[in-house]
Amino acid sequence: MNNKILIWDVPTRVFHWLLVGSFAGAYYTADSERYRDIHVMLGYILLGLIAFRILWGFFGTRYARFSSFMFKPSEVVAYLTALIKHKSADYLGHNPAGSVAIWLLLLLGITSGVTGVMALKDIGGDLVVEWHDLVSEGMLVIVAVHVLGVLVSSVMHRENLVRSMITGFKKGEQDQGIHYAYAWLGVAMLASTVIYWLVYSAKG
Ligand code: HEM
Repeated sequence: MNNKILIWDVPTRVFHWLLVGSFAGAYYTADSERYRDIHVMLGYILLGLIAFRILWGFFGTRYARFSSFMFKPSEVVAYLTALIKHKSADYLGHNPAGSVAIWLLLLLGITSGVTGVMALKDIGGDLVVEWHDLVSEGMLVIVAVHVLGVLVSSVMHRENLVRSMITGFKKGEQDQGIHYAYAWLGVAMLASTVIYWLVYSAKG
């Protein structure tokens, strides 16, 4: 169990940290007229990232696939009950409670992005703008829950999950790791984001 094995492929990690950056930046610039263009651009990046993640949820590596983190409500309750008693099972991919936050973040991310585009194009009036604000605030709450959950889980299972989301590695049995990191795809994602940013800014 003390082997270091690869769990998160490169595209999943690049997706995660670009999502963190785009959400933080979009949230920070939300109320400013001056940074409106940057806010809109970050919103499009966030939507593009989630669109990629949906595809990767079907075609990606073992722990990135949606099928690896679809849990029944009873499994979520059982995990949380066991966690309180310090007896929860250690998961190599997403655990049942963490998965709930992840599904919510993906769903809220799409809703926030789509309502943002609608508001930009004057579709739906004030109601859509209000929804956009409300959903984005809701997302911030779930982000806080998510980060807290990651920290609690890291302490309980004595494994630094934040580091795993950076390096891709966790402790486990050799045969449970993924074999291919798809580094080229992660690099392509980073490059496309930078190119999009540059083209968008040049149009400015
Ligand atoms: C600095 C703040 C954050 C830290 C330290 C962090 C850390 C992590 C970690 C460690 C995981 C893997 C959880 C596991 O082992 O099961 C994860 C997954 C995830 N996080 Fe975060 N996170 C942060 C912020 C965010 C934000 C702001 C968002 C969304 C806007 C987000 C969305 C997600 C998603 C969607 C996943 C699932 C990754 C995937 O399977 O593609 N995180 N995060």
